[in-house]
Amino acid sequence: MNPVKPAATATTADAVRKGRETLTVIDNRTGKQYELPITHDTIRALDLRKIKVQENEFGMMSYDPAFNNTALCQSRVTFIDGDSGILRYRGYPIEELAEKSTYLETAYLILHGELPTRPQLEEWSFHITHHTFIHESIKKFLDGFHYDAHPMGMMISTIAALSTFYPDARDIFNEESRSKQTWRLIGKMPTLAAFAYRHSLGMPYAYPDNELSYTGNFLNMLFKTTELKYRPNPTLEHALDVLFILHADHEQNCSANAMRCVGSSHVDPYSATAAATAALYGPLHGGANEEVLRMLMQIGSTQRVPEYIQRVKAGEHKLMGFGHRIYKNYDPRARIIKRIADEVFEVMGRNPLIDIALECERVALQDEYFVSRRLYPNVDFYTGLIYQSMGFPMTMFPVLFAIPRTSGWIAQWEEMLLDAEQKIARPRQVYLGHDQRSYVPIENRS
Ligand code: CMC
Repeated sequence: MNPVKPAATATTADAVRKGRETLTVIDNRTGKQYELPITHDTIRALDLRKIKVQENEFGMMSYDPAFNNTALCQSRVTFIDGDSGILRYRGYPIEELAEKSTYLETAYLILHGELPTRPQLEEWSFHITHHTFIHESIKKFLDGFHYDAHPMGMMISTIAALSTFYPDARDIFNEESRSKQTWRLIGKMPTLAAFAYRHSLGMPYAYPDNELSYTGNFLNMLFKTTELKYRPNPTLEHALDVLFILHADHEQNCSANAMRCVGSSHVDPYSATAAATAALYGPLHGGANEEVLRMLMQIGSTQRVPEYIQRVKAGEHKLMGFGHRIYKNYDPRARIIKRIADEVFEVMGRNPLIDIALECERVALQDEYFVSRRLYPNVDFYTGLIYQSMGFPMTMFPVLFAIPRTSGWIAQWEEMLLDAEQKIARPRQVYLGHDQRSYVPIENRS
């Protein structure tokens, strides 16, 4: 981009005539005009730097707290149209994947870009299944945690600790090494999660069973007691698998951004995944499912819903599980989850909190506050009810989000690593603090 003469209309008309995609900017401070190339409806922030009053100035930046309108990458993994409520992994609608795929097949798709052939899927499942065991020393870390330690804290720590067991993971530009760490991470996440859960109960750890499916084995490690062979309930196994598909990726959310940002320093993928898991833990992100349940229990009955909604509108608290940065329509995942909830309730009995949740949704979706802000139920609104019915304590809910999201995090990380345009993530700031001043000795300070 170069400053051009202030013949705005001629330049713009020229650009249109030539079929060029450009944005013409006039700096009213100087009267100078600039033509910025547009690609994919986007201008490059770095092109703004040529806009300056004095030659020796730094140049213009864009200010965008919380990345409200900044694309940090070009991606081919996940597509979301928030206005229409569309979510696709590698082009495949989430509804079709939830109905026809399995979590491991979807994870392969997200990571490799294409659905696997049968031999590819068999090989992929074999590798994941044969990387589910964790080093016995990791049990010692888990034993060091207090019995009521939050499992997300235990997950974050033990995922980070995996990097010390696999120093080969530092070889991040070696494709073979990346594949191995991918199998290990996807394979070991359920084991770490189940061991954290058993630790909180003081129960002996149950080891992986290679004959079971990914989710079947997870249920085995969680709930196996004295039986010689654990047989998962097929409805619950399937429900969990669908929930895992729905949570596998969600483009540039807070935790994916953490994964990319931390990974951009070229640290190993275990350390980056620990950072992403920490980002997910927060109540505005993956921790929301836990908060929804606490909120529904606090509301206590359908009669008290209108009063609670009034308090939300008065700004006392948020309606957890509602609203989304991207979705300004019904979250397509929440629709599928409502159906899965019915299947789980048929086996486990109806969760009485569902009536309060449905009433919250009914009241909110008729209320001007929620309608005008386009606040709809998100993925976390109904998942907690299912997890609770399946026997999970509330603290495990964000863990159940982290396990499947691992495949998405790794795909985002790998895409970042292999993108020639990416560098270490390092945002700018608008400095508004003091100008230079001299140190004041303590006896002279008022
Ligand atoms: N309850 C009440 N008001 C809300 C809510 C809510 N759940 N969410 C947003 N608003 C209001 C907000 O106060 C603001 O109002 P105003 O314009 O008067 O200031 C307006 O709606 C816009 O909200 P925002 O905070 O600017 O939106 P955001 O894009 O920064 O935040 C969000 C998105 C998900 C953090 C937010 O909607 C929220 O805190 N929701 C509750 C937590 C939650 O359910 N999180 C899970 C997100 S989905 C799973 C995931 O991907 O992590």
